[in-house]
Parts: sequence; C-alpha cells; structure tokens
Amino acid sequence: MNIRAHAGASETPPELSTADFEAIANFALREFGLSLPASKTQLVKSRLARRLRALNLPNFAAYRSLLEGPNGQAERNELLSSLTTNVTKFFREIHHFEDLLRDVMPQLVARACQGERVRIWSAGCSSGQEPYSIALTALKCHPDIATKNFKILATDIDPSIIVKAREATYRDDEIAAVDKKIFRVSDIVRSVQVKEGCFTVSKDVRSLVTFGVLNLIEELPFNGAFNVIFCRNVAIYFNRETQQSVWSRFSSLLPSGGKLFIGHSERIMRADQPKLEPCGVTVYKKL
Ligand SMILES: C[S@@+](CC[C@H](N)C(=O)[O-])C[C@H]1O[C@@H](n2cnc3c(N)ncnc32)[C@H](O)[C@@H]1O
Repeated sequence: MNIRAHAGASETPPELSTADFEAIANFALREFGLSLPASKTQLVKSRLARRLRALNLPNFAAYRSLLEGPNGQAERNELLSSLTTNVTKFFREIHHFEDLLRDVMPQLVARACQGERVRIWSAGCSSGQEPYSIALTALKCHPDIATKNFKILATDIDPSIIVKAREATYRDDEIAAVDKKIFRVSDIVRSVQVKEGCFTVSKDVRSLVTFGVLNLIEELPFNGAFNVIFCRNVAIYFNRETQQSVWSRFSSLLPSGGKLFIGHSERIMRADQPKLEPCGVTVYKKL
C-alpha cells in the first residue's frame, strides 16, 4: 500500500478563506487572464489542495507567499495547469478541418505556390495535436508544401506542454479515435513507431510547425499577419473583457478574408467585433 498517498488522501484540506481565494483569483487574472468567479471557490480549493500537499505547505496563505515570491515561477506554471485543462486531440471538431481542407487550404496553397508568405497560428496549442492536424491537412492538400514559404506557428502559455508538443509523441489510441470523415488512418499516421503503443509525428509534418511559449494576454510579438488563426477552447477561461481584447488583436492580425476558428462553446458577438463575420460553425471571416 502507498502509505503517503493513503495518509494524504485522508487529510482534511485546509480552509480557503475568501481573502485567499480573492488573492489567488486576482493573481490568475493578472498573470494568465483566467476568470475565477466566487462560484469556482470549491474547484480552486480542491485543485490547489493537491499542490499544498505536494509542496508540504500548511495553508493557502503560505501558497500565496510562494506564488508571489521570487521562487514562484515554477509554481505559477503548476497553478495554471491546476486551474485549466490541456485536453486536446487530433482533428478535434472535425468540421473545422473539413472547412480548412475544402475552402481554405486550396487558396493558401495556391498563394504559397506563387511565392507568397502563408502563416497559420494555433494559439493555445496545448500538446500539439491541433497544429499537427493543421499540418496534416496542408500536406493532404499539397504534399510538397514544406518547400514553400508556408509555416504554422503554435504557442501556449505553459512551457511544459510546449516541451511535450515538440516531442510529438502520442499514444496509438489517439489516432484510432480520429473521426474518419475526411482523413483515413493512412493519411494521419505519417509517423514512425518509437515504442509499443506510441508513435512520433514524422519529420515532414513537424518541420511545418514552429512552437513557442506565449501568454495571449500579454503584448503579441508579431509584425506580419496570419492568414488563419486557430484559438479554440482557450478564451473560455477568460472574462468578457479579456476575450474582447484577444478577439480584437486577432482581428487586427488577420488580412481581409483571413479566418478565425474558435472553440465549440465560444462565441464572438457581431456587435463587439463588426469586422469578424460569422461564416460557419465557430468560424469567422475578417471583412
Ligand atoms: C483545452 S486546451 C485547448 C487546446 C487546443 N486549442 C484544442 O482546442 O484542442 C487550452 C490551452 O490553453 C492554454 N492557455 C490558457 N491560458 C492561456 C493564455 N493566457 N495564453 C496562452 N495559452 C493559454 C492552456 O495552457 C491549454 O494548453
């Protein structure tokens, strides 16, 4: 029996006072843009109780001191991971990839073949399945796309998830779970087996994607535009004001006709963003 785990599980978690909750919520809003209303108190308490146990801290006040102190950087990443999810999968929300393959990619490929610069951004890419799905879609449309000025930028706030994304190694069952509407398994498994039960995305797919750590609520370090932006299941954590600011900045980075793909439970109101016209299920076109 794992005595430590057993002892930890039976301990009563420390109380999360209103003051501690508000301080942690303000910290998460300021640092990551996360919105934590009072209704999330129990969730925050149970998720962070695990961190207190792991760090052997007596209470949430000690946790706050660690977070805000000079040695808090590593724990800030743990805090974010505890309060958000990295859940993602290959070809998640398959209708976006159908749209990409049918309506978007042929035009982008044609432009890249004429020597134009083409850039796609996967913002909040988690462990990489989203940008690799975009790369696979591009390769399905044009197998030589890597020889053109065609790049996918993939960013996330969480440095540890970016390490995982760069490794590009996934369980075999992630491929088995892919919706087969447009992609056959043979389209997708452009991969090499590294060990039993796992595969690594092949070099030609990986070479299309550049990863980086980027917090979406901070100033964005881009000069050029993006033809397409994917930012799915990320803004759901932000309050309305932060969402508006993120949509506005995306809008200014898209050229006329550029497309923005967002998550299934996210919406952009036309009144708030008149230049982003809905053109599909959770897809918007820059006017
Ligand atoms: C649920 S995953 C979405 C992954 C992928 N886009 C998808 O839809 O499958 C949400 C990701 O957003 C990232 N995230 C949360 N807040 C962020 C922020 N302020 N800036 C950048 N990424 C953030 C998290 O680290 C996490 O990897």
